[in-house]
Amino acid sequence: MSDYDFDVIVIGAGPGGYVAAIRAAQLGLKTACAESRETLGGTCLNVGCIPSKAMLHASELYDEAASGKLAKLGIKATVELDLDTMHGQRRDAVKGLTGGIEYLFKKNKVEWLKGLAAFTGKDTVEVAGKSYRAKNIVIATGSSVTPLPGVEIDEKVVVSSTGALELPKVPGHLVVIGGGVIGLELGSVWKRLGAKVTVVEYLDQLLPGMDGEIRKEAAKIFKKQGMELKLSTKVTGVTVKGGKATVTVEPAAGGAAETLEADAVLVSIGRRPNTEGLALERAGLTTNKRGQIEVDHDFGTGVPGIWAIGDVVPGPMLAHKAEDEGIAVAENIAGLTGIVNHDVIPGVVYTFPEIAAVGLTEEDAKARGEVKVGKFPMMANSRAKTNHEPDGFVKVIADAKTDRVLGVHIIASVAGTMIAQAAQAMEFGATSEDIAYTCHAHPTHSEAIKEAAMAVTGKPIHI
Ligand code: FAD
Ligand code: NAI
Repeated sequence: MSDYDFDVIVIGAGPGGYVAAIRAAQLGLKTACAESRETLGGTCLNVGCIPSKAMLHASELYDEAASGKLAKLGIKATVELDLDTMHGQRRDAVKGLTGGIEYLFKKNKVEWLKGLAAFTGKDTVEVAGKSYRAKNIVIATGSSVTPLPGVEIDEKVVVSSTGALELPKVPGHLVVIGGGVIGLELGSVWKRLGAKVTVVEYLDQLLPGMDGEIRKEAAKIFKKQGMELKLSTKVTGVTVKGGKATVTVEPAAGGAAETLEADAVLVSIGRRPNTEGLALERAGLTTNKRGQIEVDHDFGTGVPGIWAIGDVVPGPMLAHKAEDEGIAVAENIAGLTGIVNHDVIPGVVYTFPEIAAVGLTEEDAKARGEVKVGKFPMMANSRAKTNHEPDGFVKVIADAKTDRVLGVHIIASVAGTMIAQAAQAMEFGATSEDIAYTCHAHPTHSEAIKEAAMAVTGKPIHI
């Protein structure tokens, strides 16, 4: 250790990096974490998961009051939007949580190296003009918005997710480019607050990668909510004049162009890994075609002592996946066995209703072998019905021979909470029968998972 400054230097303090740093320190390793932002927590806490959920929660409550949903329950209120206060509570949530990570760093004696880190060798990095040598370096630099060629993001009229979280007033018309997770979540926020929202999606369905039936149902529900969906459509240009945008679109397969006038345009066509400025070549590292750093099962990069986790490596760009990889990599560095089961990573879209999934889609499961599928509509779930939340369903996919659960897909008001039991069941290797014979509390939305599991063998009770 004598000529090393640290056992571990983690580059990036997002959910991957800060968790790796804390676990490494807990395991007795002398640890530092380089972060160039003014606050810790990465994309997720500063401009991602947390602020978006703060706006989703507040806008959902506003919509319940403003749209008359509450009045139908006998709650009458005069509703007025105070957007400044709504933004204030978002900023408070971010401040509280990012400050919390700073506290945890101090508590666990993780040193924060403030500034951009760049490799100067296989075991050295430079941060803010100072050189540090470490036995292990973990790259956890995350991702940034993918730009759309020819469309300039000014974060005022044409915004990324970061600008879309902070719009100072509700746009009359918001055009969302990309019907993925960010487009639907942030589109929902501004739709609920009064904007007309048009989603332009290149593919013929929203939410690529999700189960086919779920994608169709989601489109039906968002349309019913008043979102305009332009599927199989591509954006060929955006011009901005006098604070307004003109978006030119045409059919993805080619054809006549049309223009959409918008007060704001959200570019949400995906995210790409952050490796620029790291001087990877000085450490003997390269990236793959998608700009990601390839890793082995243990999160090693192939260069001894250099590891990588989170959005910068292949796999879903999700905070909890990054966190679990952060714990695993620290444990591997400490000589323990850190494992992440990448087959069981849940994903949640926090719209209303929520959309959640874990494991294989029906399409992927069928491509691998014979399956049995059980479905149960939320309309027949007593709690969802009582709460006036009839939209959506649960689908359980099981191996036809072994009955082992291969995937669970849910659209329901609280799908994000429901999916945890499915992930746990799959992690324990459950069969659909195991779920069907597990006692579920009544009345809960989760009973729909039990019924969908019963439906795998054709025996649900309430339908
Ligand atoms: P990041 O969180 O991106 O952190 C990387 C950090 O590294 C950054 O702070 C960056 O400043 C720093 N950095 C980069 N390069 C350097 C360098 N050279 N030197 C020093 N520091 C550097 N995921 C979910 O699971 N649930 C959600 O609800 C969710 N909502 C999201 C909403 C939005 C609007 C967005 C944009 C993303 C959302 N995500 C969500 C995705 C989630 O934010 C990411 O998957 C997660 O943050 C990845 O964690 P990470 O640690 O790999 O990287
Ligand atoms: P995404 O990959 O989810 O969706 C991008 C969409 O844009 C796709 O549907 C794609 O077909 C479409 N698209 C691509 N190019 C296009 C073009 N030129 N014109 C029209 N459509 C085009 O990416 P998104 O929404 O930007 O989110 C990035 C990542 O952030 C996601 O992969 C997700 O992992 C993460 N995230 C997770 C959240 C969550 O877990 N709740 C919330 C927000 C983001």
